[in-house]
Amino acid sequence: MSELRQVADAVAVGTVGGKLKKFCEEAHAILAASPGSEGARRVKPLLEALVAAPDFVAEHCGPDAKPGLHLLYEDPDLGFQVLAHVNDKGRVSPPHNHGASWAIYAQAVGYTDMTEWACTPDPANPPRYEVKPATKYRVNPGEAGIYADGAVHSIDYQGGSRFVRVTGTNLDKIERTFFNPATGESRVVTP
Ligand SMILES: [Fe+2]
Repeated sequence: MSELRQVADAVAVGTVGGKLKKFCEEAHAILAASPGSEGARRVKPLLEALVAAPDFVAEHCGPDAKPGLHLLYEDPDLGFQVLAHVNDKGRVSPPHNHGASWAIYAQAVGYTDMTEWACTPDPANPPRYEVKPATKYRVNPGEAGIYADGAVHSIDYQGGSRFVRVTGTNLDKIERTFFNPATGESRVVTP
């Protein structure tokens, strides 16, 4: 794809410039050569550098950023997305996967407490699952958590926490599964 078209498409979905533009171009090159979770692992340090850059944070995650979810970039060829989560209020999500997509959560402001879960079919109570926390950690500014296709995690953050999420595709267009650790029930969200 020509660089001109790439830039034109990027501009169409938002303000892509400076370090964000460079990140999108580098992520495109990596993911074009190495699709899937392997490429995502190589994108992670670039994303950590992006959310550690004061000018990027000031523009997209600073005090004046509008609260909400903002699509910063969608790759016209590969479909990966870069989204800024500017959170006004705190939230604890249920355990969930990202279906057939990987995801990277990179902290810009505040922190996010992550839990990764082990979810296995409960042979005593089909179709329920045994949903157990496997590991917990805090993602601080300039750090990222990465989740391969099908991996289950949950997020817990306070008001003012701001992070950038990069996903392999538009998650609104694929099936994902949410789990209830108390009951073992799962809920599939379809596009
Ligand atoms: Fe997630």
